Amino acid sequence: MADAAKRNSYLDENQNRFIEQLQQWLAIPSISTLSEHKADVARAADWVRERLQAIGFPEAKTIATTGHPLVYAESMLDKNTPTLLVYGHYDVQPVDPVKEWQTPPFEPTIRDGNIYCRGASDDKAQVMLVLAALEAWFAVNGALPINVKILLEGEEEAGGASITRYVQDNPELLQADAALICDTHMVHPEQPSLVTSLRGILYTEITVSGAKTDLHSGSYGGVAPNPIHALCILINRLKGEDGVIQIPELAAATPTPTAAEKSFLQEDPLHIQDALCTEMGVTELVGEKNYPPLERLGVRPTLEVHGIRGGFTGEGAKTVIPATALAKVSLRLPANIDPDDAFTWLQKAVRRNMPAGHRVQLTNLHSGKGFYIHPDSRYIQAASQALESVYGTPPVFMREGGSIPIAALFDTILKTPVVLMGFGLPDDTIHAPNEKFSLDQFNKGMKTVADFLGRLAGQPTGPAT
Ligand code: BES
Ligand code: MN
Ligand code: MN
Repeated sequence: MADAAKRNSYLDENQNRFIEQLQQWLAIPSISTLSEHKADVARAADWVRERLQAIGFPEAKTIATTGHPLVYAESMLDKNTPTLLVYGHYDVQPVDPVKEWQTPPFEPTIRDGNIYCRGASDDKAQVMLVLAALEAWFAVNGALPINVKILLEGEEEAGGASITRYVQDNPELLQADAALICDTHMVHPEQPSLVTSLRGILYTEITVSGAKTDLHSGSYGGVAPNPIHALCILINRLKGEDGVIQIPELAAATPTPTAAEKSFLQEDPLHIQDALCTEMGVTELVGEKNYPPLERLGVRPTLEVHGIRGGFTGEGAKTVIPATALAKVSLRLPANIDPDDAFTWLQKAVRRNMPAGHRVQLTNLHSGKGFYIHPDSRYIQAASQALESVYGTPPVFMREGGSIPIAALFDTILKTPVVLMGFGLPDDTIHAPNEKFSLDQFNKGMKTVADFLGRLAGQPTGPAT
């Protein structure tokens, strides 16, 4: 049996063990944004470090940071062979609304060919399938076909400040010919895809204040400022019912897709649009009428309100005019736009549109730049061939609406081309209740990554073309 077939048999024969190990990891509630889970995040880091040590990275280590630990491992064989930098994250999103989960969020459960758990698709199963592919090379061939560096973080869902600093401080250690990130999804289980662009993100908090204290709405209603109402007016002025964002500098900096891309977005040959209403459980799409839905999803900027806090929401009625109100607001940004510029533009728009009689403050909670890679990159071509060898059909190239700030950092600081080859599916409901990952995708994913590693072995080292 040829080696590739041996590796695939090894992966098939050991899949159940991989899934059992994944279940152990998933059961650790590594929610990075909640301080009461700090010890769990550290446990999840230790768990994956031990796993790396077991499969063939005896020197794998956790690196303490001011936030959550990083995990680093490498297997360096030969400086004349290419080096792949693998990135993933072991932190997960919070679980609320918890009553919407069919089984408890941290009790990994297998149903209908899927594994359900918070963090299943985003990103623990995807990290685990890469580890399985690496293990198959160690077990069948005694070594990896290329040099591999692995860097995992536990702060991705919290803005990734520690890994940002680590990459800035250690460009030589992390030097690589290409990077692999499995933290996105494909368009369809039978249609593989590679992500060629990610949007950037700017996440802010808007605080509005009025009177020095809460006021009786009978005694002061009619003359008092109401920060909640003012916040609603502000938000509506920033983006009204037509979905158009009223930030002129942002509009001016937003690129127009090429004619070829525009017709792909318009024609939607894969019928991605049809599934959207079903996935969301709605009857119609909203947003900018002048742009096709695919362009609104992957290319156009967005402005979304994530939450509003203020005033009285307890049981019964209380006649009060609140003194303050707060909103969490984010912008998704086309890949070419610098989030710091976007912050300045938003700040100006907020000041200009704030109703009189209120004070407003805008805070930048975190941001990350978008990312673009040309499909002709030889690493994208290698990933394409790997996907085709396993799925039997070549991938399509997609622009993704989500953000992975580390991709831009690898690209700009390390000058490393990034392959975004994820195996999630559109209905994995990441960040939401009943997150899942398909076991069939797990199987195909590990085989694809094992194949991809082999294809890189034949590549020249040095700057990419
Ligand atoms: N894996 C996601 C990014 C993603 C989402 C890729 C959807 C493909 C499809 C990642 O973990 C994530 O959630 N990123 C955050 C950004 C971060 C700075 C909080 C996001 O996109 O909101
Ligand atoms: Mn992720
Ligand atoms: Mn996420």
